Amino acid sequence: MTKKTTDNLSPLYTYQEGMEWNPVEKVIMERRSIRNFKKKEVPDNLIKRVLEAGRFAPTAGNTQPWKFIVIKDQALIAEMERATVQLSKLLMWFVDYNRNAFRRVFLAPYTKFMTRLMPNKLHPIPFNLLQQIAAGKTAAYYNAPVMILLLIDKRGIGNPVLDVGICGQNMVLAAHSLGLGSCWIGMITVLMMNPFWRKKLGVQSPYELTDCLVLGWPKGDYDGEVEREVQLVEWIGADGVKRIERLGV
Ligand SMILES: Cc1cc2nc3c(=O)[nH]c(=O)nc-3n(C[C@H](O)[C@H](O)[C@H](O)COP(=O)(O)O)c2cc1C
Repeated sequence: MTKKTTDNLSPLYTYQEGMEWNPVEKVIMERRSIRNFKKKEVPDNLIKRVLEAGRFAPTAGNTQPWKFIVIKDQALIAEMERATVQLSKLLMWFVDYNRNAFRRVFLAPYTKFMTRLMPNKLHPIPFNLLQQIAAGKTAAYYNAPVMILLLIDKRGIGNPVLDVGICGQNMVLAAHSLGLGSCWIGMITVLMMNPFWRKKLGVQSPYELTDCLVLGWPKGDYDGEVEREVQLVEWIGADGVKRIERLGV
C-alpha cells in the first residue's frame, strides 16, 4: 500500500477502488516513534483513553494476558533512567570486545557465543542503542512524562507476547490519534535484568516485562513517512493460481 497524503479523508466503513485513506488508515500511516517530548503534563483521562484502546485489543481465547502499570512520577522515571545507564555500562563491559586488543582476543569468543545464544537481543541495532545509552549519548526513556509498562502474563494461552504486542499497538495508535507521541522501549529489558527493579516495579511471576511505552506531548514536527521495505507478497488467488505482487514503492 503506497502512502497517499490527504486531508480529504474517506469516510469509515466504506470502500471504493482508489479512494483516499480514511481517518484510521491515516493514523496508522502517520504514527511515528517520538523521542522528544514537551515538559507538559499528560492528563490522566487522556492516558486512560490510551489504556482503554489497549484493553480492547484482541487476544487468543480472550485471555487478556497483561497488566498495565502507568508511571508519571518524574523522580522514579529519572531513577529508572540512571539505573538503565548503569546496567547498560555493565552489560557493555561484558560484551563490547572492540574497545582494546586485549578484549578482542579474550572477550570476542565469549561475546560471539552470547550473540549466537541471543541473536535478536545482541543484533547490531539494539547493540548500538545500548552502546549509546551506556555512553550517555541518548536517553533510554527520552525524558518522557509518562511510561506505560505492558506486563506479559505468562499464563496466557497461545502466545501472550503477541497479544501484548497487539495491545500496545492499539495504544500507540490511539495516542497518535489524540495528539500524543509515543515510542516503544525494548531497552527496559536491561532494567529488568536487575531483581531490585523487578521487585520495585512489581514485575513478579507470572508477569514479565520486555517492552514498555513512553508517552507525552511531541516536541517539534514529526509526522511523515519513514521508509519501509518493499514486500513481495505471495498470493494464491480465487482461481488457485499463485502469483507474487510487489507491495510498496
Ligand atoms: C518492540 C519494539 C521495541 C522498540 N524499542 C525501542 C527502544 O528501546 N528505543 C527506541 O528508541 N525505539 C524503539 N523502538 C522503536 C523503533 O525503533 C521504531 O518503531 C522503528 O524504527 C520504526 O519507526 P517508526 O516507529 O517511527 O515508524 C521499538 C519498537 C518496537 C516495535
